[in-house]
Amino acid sequence: MRFLLTAGPTREPIDPVRYLSNRSSGKMGYAIAQAALDAGHEVVLVSGPVALAAPEGARLEPVTTSDEMYDAIHRWVGWADVCVLCAAVADFRPVRIEAQKIKKGARETLTLELVPTRDILRSLRDLAPAPGRKRATRVVGFAAETHDLEAHARRKLTEKGCALIVANDVSRPDIGFESEDNALTLFFASGERCELARAKKSVLATELVKIFVEIAK
Ligand code: CTP
Repeated sequence: MRFLLTAGPTREPIDPVRYLSNRSSGKMGYAIAQAALDAGHEVVLVSGPVALAAPEGARLEPVTTSDEMYDAIHRWVGWADVCVLCAAVADFRPVRIEAQKIKKGARETLTLELVPTRDILRSLRDLAPAPGRKRATRVVGFAAETHDLEAHARRKLTEKGCALIVANDVSRPDIGFESEDNALTLFFASGERCELARAKKSVLATELVKIFVEIAK
């Protein structure tokens, strides 16, 4: 099967030396890429800036901003059987990128004007099959939540129109961001729910790949 994955954070530039970003390490997305390769699948990995080596055998598409990630996904989505958006895409970006470094000067405060980025997951709603292909690419989203995980994850499932949302609680210091471990709750469009208990991201990734293959069959 053909897997299209996103991983890591995006960076939204403020000026030539600064950017907005988040704490995503990319470990979960890279673990899914490795698990898919180990199971014999083809992998295209669209990755934000991370400190991880590309899994051998994957085609790496490095990107920096959410706009670049959006474009890369739209270039590849027709190729894929399943598209898994694991990246922590910045939700906002500065309205303009200053051409020169913003100087501190004598200011007491600095206000940045931000606009929402394009929602990549939502843009894949109601995909038609690519020319020459029988089925539309199955789309899986992730949800990073600090509270009311089930309610937020189910809302994202409906609003973003994907087949499955994989939710993780990023308020727990022992799992999630920057950690080797994670614990996941899966919400399917069918209404089903399933828990994957705390384990190494590589172990969870192997389980997730089996589930992704099932929903893409
Ligand atoms: N996502 C995306 N494009 C964006 C923002 C998010 O494709 N501009 C995707 C993420 O890759 C993830 C899913 O949407 O698969 C949910 O991301 P998350 O950050 O949990 O939710 P948000 O949509 O940002 O909503 P909220 O800020 O309310 O948590």
